[in-house]
This record gives sequence, C-alpha cells and structure tokens, in this order.
Amino acid sequence: MRLALFASGGGSNAQAILDAIRRGELRAEPVLLVSNKPGARALARARDAGIATATLRDADDAREILAALREADADFVALAGYLKRIPREVVVAFSGRIVNIHPSLLPAFGGAGMYGRRVHEAVLASGAKESGATVHLVDDDYDTGPIVMQRAVPVELADTPETLAARVLKAEHALYPEALRLFME
Ligand code: GRF
Repeated sequence: MRLALFASGGGSNAQAILDAIRRGELRAEPVLLVSNKPGARALARARDAGIATATLRDADDAREILAALREADADFVALAGYLKRIPREVVVAFSGRIVNIHPSLLPAFGGAGMYGRRVHEAVLASGAKESGATVHLVDDDYDTGPIVMQRAVPVELADTPETLAARVLKAEHALYPEALRLFME
C-alpha cells in the first residue's frame, strides 16, 4: 500500500497513521501528504517524518490532485481531517481506494457543513447517549460512502463539545490505522 494522506488542519489522525506504520502495526508506505492549506500543521508533521508534501493551488482541480498522486505513485488515499470535497474524476480514478474518517457514528451527524465542533454540538443537542468515529469509503458527496468500520464512545452528562471531541479523537487514532490494516490485508 503506497499511501497518500490528505489533511487540512492539525493532522493528528495522519500522525496516528504514521506512528502505526513506524511501530510496524500497519505495513504501508506513506508516500505523500496533500493539503489545501499552506500553513497546515499536518504538512510540518509530514516533513518531520521525511514524507513528500504537496500543497494544492486549487483543491477543486482534479488534474492537479491526480498529478500529485501519480508523481508519488500512490495507490491508496486516506483523508484525515481534509475539509474539501474530492473531485469526481479523482474518486473515479481511485474508486474503492479512498477512505475518510468522520467524528460521529454515520449516517448520523454527517453531511455538508458537519465537521469539527459542529458535529459534537449537534450530538450534544440531540441528547444522544453515544457518539463515535466512522471510517468510510469516499464517493463524491460528503460522508455518504459505504461504512468500513466504526467505534462508539459514550456521551457523558457533563460533556462539552470539547470534551466529547477529545474522546472521539482518541477513538479515531486507534480506529483509522485498524481500518487501513483491513484494506492492506
Ligand atoms: C477529526 O475529528 C476527523 O474526524 C475530522 O477532522 C478532525 C481532524 O483532526 N474529519 P486532525 O487534523 O486529524 O487532528
């Protein structure tokens, strides 16, 4: 598995994947980290790990993304906190080989505009007693592709969006490398 990671922000999920590879828990070769945000901390994490990086000029330009993936000879893509929609041509070219992680138990609390703090606010407002993380295949809409793996976490009475987000993020860091291992096997 020649793995390309896409991240727009902090990149803690990308880091968890890189750490799992380094520990020998996931036999994949990280070949590229792609970001749409020049200042993303995820890019610095990749550079620290000695991995090639690409900052997209236009995240809606399928040709630019495909050129970066081809140059790195990537054969699998993991979106890790990547906030742009993947253009249709890229989804088609990498059909069944792009996954994403979302911080809720999809199909609940997903869709356009449901990211970051908003997801956890909506979970708390709903009164749900459980939330969690979902790894799913990517199609050309937001959060609608088939589910690969999920991990539930409890919602506590005293939770704020921040405490819930932290609990879910911890689950994400374990879930994502596990889900990728399934694909690899
Ligand atoms: C995670 O909660 C992920 O599920 C969501 O965005 C967040 C990214 O966190 N898509 P990080 O950049 O991996 O730290």
